[in-house]
Amino acid sequence: MSDNRVIIFDTTLRDGEQSPGASMTKDEKLRIAKALEKMRVDVIEAGFAIASPGDFESVKSIADTIKDSTVCSLSRALDADIDRAGEALVNANSGRIHTFIATSPIHMKYKLQMDPNKVVEQAVYAVKRARNLIDDVEFSLEDASRSELDFMCRIIEQVIDAGARTINIPDTVGYAVPEEFGHTIGQLIERIPNADKAIFSVHCHNDLGLAVANSLSAVANGARQIECTINGLGERAGNASLEEVVMAIRTRKDILGLETGIDTTQIVPASRLVSGVTGFPVQPNKAIVGANAFAHESGIHQDGVLKHRETYEIMTAQDVGWNTNKMVLGKHSGRAAFRSRLEELGTTFNTDAELNAAFARFKDLADKKHEIFDEDLQALVSDTRSEAYNEKFRLSSLKVTSQTGETPVAEIVVMVDNEEVKATSAGSGPVDAAYQAIESIVATEASLELYSVNAITSGTDSQGEVTVRLEKGGRIVNGLGADTDIVIASAKAYLNAANLLLSDVEKAHPQV
Ligand code: KIV
Ligand code: ZN
Repeated sequence: MSDNRVIIFDTTLRDGEQSPGASMTKDEKLRIAKALEKMRVDVIEAGFAIASPGDFESVKSIADTIKDSTVCSLSRALDADIDRAGEALVNANSGRIHTFIATSPIHMKYKLQMDPNKVVEQAVYAVKRARNLIDDVEFSLEDASRSELDFMCRIIEQVIDAGARTINIPDTVGYAVPEEFGHTIGQLIERIPNADKAIFSVHCHNDLGLAVANSLSAVANGARQIECTINGLGERAGNASLEEVVMAIRTRKDILGLETGIDTTQIVPASRLVSGVTGFPVQPNKAIVGANAFAHESGIHQDGVLKHRETYEIMTAQDVGWNTNKMVLGKHSGRAAFRSRLEELGTTFNTDAELNAAFARFKDLADKKHEIFDEDLQALVSDTRSEAYNEKFRLSSLKVTSQTGETPVAEIVVMVDNEEVKATSAGSGPVDAAYQAIESIVATEASLELYSVNAITSGTDSQGEVTVRLEKGGRIVNGLGADTDIVIASAKAYLNAANLLLSDVEKAHPQV
């Protein structure tokens, strides 16, 4: 690998999944992992193997399947964690164990309640144990941005001697600012005698909105791996966003002199896939992948772009995989064309039954909407996500009457374990009436934290994609539903969230 190549380490499936409500099933994670491999991500952090049996299975199935990217599992610096990570990665073509321990005074004193000498000892022991299982071992100094430089130099020198190939410097709490963070990376590389035996990596959180800036400052000062996530998903305010980091490195090669191995045309499909699977919509003004990222509203800008694109555009929409609303399929398209277009968008079907179910939904949609865009297809596939969880509740039918000056009323029929249950409710609007009727059946008693509707494409026949976030006893889930009728999309989203609440997945959190 050349000296100016930056390794892209994607942690959407691990840190991204730590976003409240973003849990994913094994199949969904595998689908995302395949999209990341297609994008030529160097390292995929597939999960935290010891967190739960489900996490273990996910890491294992990704390690068993993915061939072109390195597959990594997180582990604390504990025997059981490291062994479980090694077990999950046993069939990986190229596997990595990523072990970590906190190194800041505040974490060592209050969280770990460990003496710094003991922290060094445990870190060295963990790296050696991981190296007995696998060649590729990464070590992270949790809360590095609040750790003392001398202490970091001491522990890093020893873990490199113990066999760590990658040293990751996380800004765990999103506290760093670019100049300071870049300086720290430069100092570590300069002061640690065996620094040339490892690749320095950074992992920045976005609490101050500086994750991408800090990551770029780090690579400008010698780091050669960036840990990031699709759409900037991640714990609290999220992680550095993969699409921003990659496009900044590519667009400003003149200044940074660096490159990645990413196929940037896969960025938008991957962003849509992650948004669909997690139920986290992408804000319209989000850089690179937001719906407005390449839309020019002002007349002056439009005029300029028409005369010479580069007057107002620093990269092309096609470079990052926007399809400029190309109509791909219609009512008369066959199953083969449907399957092939979805494969191009990164979705493969494991069984004929899955393909048939998605194709039936496509035909239903084509009856209501005569132009079907890529975005519609992706929403249609993410609508199948509910089927991945054992669905207790399914929408059978919904009738809502709403008229000026009258109270809207919803009559709903929900299949509960294959039995029809009916309810009628009034509400302040059609969606409210539908939600009250649904709640009288599903009885989640959860609080509604978020309700949002996005038009998937333009035009009044566009599908509305609804996200509903429910919270119950500290557990947060995001339900998704899409339909050309937004009240039906809303009902589907609520039922999806109710089903997710029932899938009680207990998992350990790496930082607890
Ligand atoms: O933010 C963090 O410090 C982490 C580590 C486990 C790498 O996610
Ligand atoms: Zn993190």
